[in-house]
Amino acid sequence: MQGQTIAVTVEDGKVYAFDDTCTHKQCSLAGGEVEDGAVICPCHFAAFDIATGAVRTGPAETALRCYRAELADGALIVEVPE
Ligand code: FES
Repeated sequence: MQGQTIAVTVEDGKVYAFDDTCTHKQCSLAGGEVEDGAVICPCHFAAFDIATGAVRTGPAETALRCYRAELADGALIVEVPE
């Protein structure tokens, strides 16, 4: 998945990784706030569950892709399927 930008956040010591691109109008989610386990898109405020990618609040209708991620020996490891 070359050229894909992935956003990462840490909540309660757990690492979450998901596509950085909002499925609504492709804004970057990297600048969005994380509240109650959801990332809020800074453009139109769609909310996505950071564990599953599911849409919690529109206007987005399509879920984000999420990836397994962890910190190991100081390195961030994100599993991105080919
Ligand atoms: S671009 Fe994210 S909600 Fe519109």
